[in-house]
Amino acid sequence: MEIINSVKELKAKVSALRSDNKTVGLVPTMGALHAGHASLVSQSVKENDATIVSVFVNPTQFNDKNDLAAYPRTMDADCALLESIGADYVFAPTVEEVYPEPDTRIFSYPPTDTVMEGAFRPGHFNGVCQIVSKLFMFVEPDHSYFGEKDFQQIAVISAMVADYQTQGAEWAKRMKIRPCPIIREEDGLALSSRNTLLAANERAIAPNIYKALKGSIDYSRTHTIDETKQYVINQIDAVDGLEVQYYDIVNAGTLASVTTWDDAEHIQGCITVFCGATPIRLIDNINYK
Ligand code: PAF
Repeated sequence: MEIINSVKELKAKVSALRSDNKTVGLVPTMGALHAGHASLVSQSVKENDATIVSVFVNPTQFNDKNDLAAYPRTMDADCALLESIGADYVFAPTVEEVYPEPDTRIFSYPPTDTVMEGAFRPGHFNGVCQIVSKLFMFVEPDHSYFGEKDFQQIAVISAMVADYQTQGAEWAKRMKIRPCPIIREEDGLALSSRNTLLAANERAIAPNIYKALKGSIDYSRTHTIDETKQYVINQIDAVDGLEVQYYDIVNAGTLASVTTWDDAEHIQGCITVFCGATPIRLIDNINYK
């Protein structure tokens, strides 16, 4: 496995792979890797001749400087994990390498990027689109892998790729986004790099989020959307140390809120919960149909 720090070297590697007719998979990450990331990388290793994993804590997607500073950084452990599962290249640039000048591009794909996380973290998805579009243009991968824990992020990135396709970008026409299922701890907590920030008492209550989501599947069969939302919020807010920031039940394609179970073919519930005193912001989601 090779570690690459510069965009120039990355492009040279990719162009050598392309001249050998090799397919390339890209797994964008911010490091602090866990089994959820490992599942994305393994999927890419299975489906492509070469797998590139980017490890870059992207400052433009953090609207809270403390959150950026606290984000876990574990480069040595990340590289050991990536090597053990067969990644070929790690792209680990500095901020200056990725943003030699401030990125002033504005991306806008409402409602996917304006609701839920978009409403509570202004600018977050613009930053995600800035870094992910750069990575796509550097690597021009055949496949790119994203975890469904960040359900809304996949919808926003898909909208961005569709937009580049409309503008005629060849890389966007060829590239396929591969969403990969959420990986959970045995007690149901969705794996997240942020879980390492939880104190023991916070880690102990966090599984109540998925417990409520899972319980709401049965409940939803005999209740309305509004009742189901309230059920989830009540279950979680009843746990000392947990507080729901939002829970919405949405059209899984557009992310617009639905009002009845017949409003869309696929329906997803998306939640953000504050856990503990710090607090740590945890997200999760569940499919109703
Ligand atoms: O999901 C993440 O870890 C980040 O948002 C991503 C896609 C790597 C962009 O920085």
